[in-house]
Amino acid sequence: MTAKEWVLLRLVLILVTFQHIHCGSVSYDGKSLIINGQRRILVSGSIHYPRSTPEMWEDLIEKAKDGGLDAIDTYVFWNIHEPTPGNYDFEGRNDLVRFVKLIQNAGMFVHLRIGPFICGEWKFGGIPVWLKYVSGSTFRSNNEPFKRAMQGFVQKIVQMMKDENLFQSQGGPIILSQIENEYGLASKAYGAAGHDYMTWAATMAVNLNTGVPWVMCKEDDAPDPVINTCNGFYCDYFTPNKPYKPIMWTEAWSGWFEEFGSAIHHRPVEDLAFAVARFIQKGGSFVNYYMYHGGTNFGRTAGGPFLTTSYDYDAPIDEYGLTRQPKYDHLKEFHKAIKLSERALVNANQTVIQLGSYQEAHIFSSTSGGCAAFLSNFHLNSSATVTFNNMHYQLPPWSASILPDCKNAVFNTAMVGVKTSEVQMLPADMPTLSWETFTEDISNLDTDSKLTVNRLLEQLDVTRDSSDYLWYITSVEISSNGGQQPVLAVNSAGHALHVFINGKYSGSAHGTKEHPQFTFTARVSLQPGVNKISLLSVAIGLWNDGPHYETSKTGIVGPVGLHGLDNVGSLDLSTQKWSYQVGLQGEAMNLVSPTGTSSVHWVEGSLQVAQPQPLTWYKSYFNSPGGNEPLGLDMGSMVKGEVWINGQSIGRYWTITAAGDCEPCRYEGAYRSPKCQSGCGQPTQRWYHVPRSWLKPTGNVVVVFEEIGGDASRISFVKRTLA
Ligand code: GAL
Repeated sequence: MTAKEWVLLRLVLILVTFQHIHCGSVSYDGKSLIINGQRRILVSGSIHYPRSTPEMWEDLIEKAKDGGLDAIDTYVFWNIHEPTPGNYDFEGRNDLVRFVKLIQNAGMFVHLRIGPFICGEWKFGGIPVWLKYVSGSTFRSNNEPFKRAMQGFVQKIVQMMKDENLFQSQGGPIILSQIENEYGLASKAYGAAGHDYMTWAATMAVNLNTGVPWVMCKEDDAPDPVINTCNGFYCDYFTPNKPYKPIMWTEAWSGWFEEFGSAIHHRPVEDLAFAVARFIQKGGSFVNYYMYHGGTNFGRTAGGPFLTTSYDYDAPIDEYGLTRQPKYDHLKEFHKAIKLSERALVNANQTVIQLGSYQEAHIFSSTSGGCAAFLSNFHLNSSATVTFNNMHYQLPPWSASILPDCKNAVFNTAMVGVKTSEVQMLPADMPTLSWETFTEDISNLDTDSKLTVNRLLEQLDVTRDSSDYLWYITSVEISSNGGQQPVLAVNSAGHALHVFINGKYSGSAHGTKEHPQFTFTARVSLQPGVNKISLLSVAIGLWNDGPHYETSKTGIVGPVGLHGLDNVGSLDLSTQKWSYQVGLQGEAMNLVSPTGTSSVHWVEGSLQVAQPQPLTWYKSYFNSPGGNEPLGLDMGSMVKGEVWINGQSIGRYWTITAAGDCEPCRYEGAYRSPKCQSGCGQPTQRWYHVPRSWLKPTGNVVVVFEEIGGDASRISFVKRTLA
């Protein structure tokens, strides 16, 4: 061997050793995931990168780590990354690689749920709207156009991660990936094609050779080596489809999402911790809180329809990034107790002893792992004193105690020693906003229209989601001498409608999440001669789940009729000439952006501002409020629309009153989302998160578009503070 060859060989050897030290391995057996040869009990939490800002990520991740989490889980949001076919966006809030690297820097693991169907209360379940219009494509089923696009995106994401060495097999933080999402629920609706698609998706994913396991949640048929996992409020009933797969809970719902018009959901931490303890005592080894930080559906990203801009979720970290007590700290204590028990849990199979009619002990004992025990009391009302290993333990109702050494109870799920945080929305220290207004001119909508047909068109087919708004305009001639007041009936598939007769606002109607379709019926004033009927149909978030959800309809599907007309009685307008206009004038002129704002004449003055006026834009300049508390915008005086700060949308707003059952809440007993609600009779969402990083010290602009009419003079910034 020459000297040169010798050096080369040494170099290769060094490289191989380096690889060996730095590359991890992830495998599994019936007990748990095995990371670098170690069985692990892992606690994870969902934080979705586009639901906060890059400036918030580090702090959220730090808080998650401090809360005792080992891993962070996120979906990958296809429709923000590929807004048009082949054009990708991974900047700013979409910077997935940066998010994953920040988690890595914090020394945590990542579960990357690529989907790319993700549900997630996210617009169209994460799938781009354009894919609906690719010929022959049926979402989530066995057809080439859909599969080709899906595979392209999944491959792209996996390659991006590989290029940055982000899989654990390359030394990175990603220990797990998910393909599809809860397909088992949908598959029946797709028949044999559904099963074929699911099998294809699993095989396609596995063939990408990430070196880490793939999971499919709520998919009982997940083929080997893919692990099927559980989602729900409780998962202690769950076993995977093979004994050699670990018991994993990919979504332990920490609360629930909100819909406009309904009260706010809370899941008591006593019950959440009990649910997780029950799962672990049955042999579960991976738990992910969905959500650990819910965040905000900025812009028009909320799914639904009818889901709120806030995605707070009653999570341990609130929408604004503050820890929610007692949830956060109680879970933190819980995680410490789990960690103390980890060696015992992963080394032994449980032995169950009945301690009473409702009480049991789950014991994990082995020579290699020591002994840990969980003592639980399932009774809904009574606490119990149980005897275990000759010692007495007091168990509150609906609770479990953890004994990491089989002797000392270090934690009980129902004994909460943490104070509840009192959140206040205090006025931000800044002058009252002074507003300028611009009202949409709707007089020439029909003559300006580029699309006129003799029928009613489905809304998404026309807008392709370029706007929430679509105008449907027609006219009707009244030949009598005097005016008439017939009833206008408009049948809409969803989601809201504002009616204008001869340019004058004449009422609104809307559906609900459960019943998006509705009929507007009201008497309208028609004059002799030609009357213009302009109907503004409004989408409030696109469907994100359900079989064939992409075929759900939005907009005015008809019939549209006038009833009680003199002489003729009823008139069906559905098949007469309709002109269409996508979006608002203000949107077309980009009024929200610092460059577009000067394209119209804004009217100054306070009088107009307090006057409720439909279809009105409001603009105000302001300096950033001092301090570093998270900021919100109090929209309590307005009705419905959207808000932008320095050109970025903080989301749709709607102050519709929340209905629900706000009876006092007991943590005991099985949790379902109608339990433990608050805010009945209040607006579902009054405050809207304004990320601090979107503000400059001076010269910021806030733009509001109001559909119906509110009092903009009372819009104000607030600081979210903990008392
Ligand atoms: C699950 C779904 C999640 C989310 C959750 C409710 O079924 O997988 O994406 O939609 O429900 O918040």
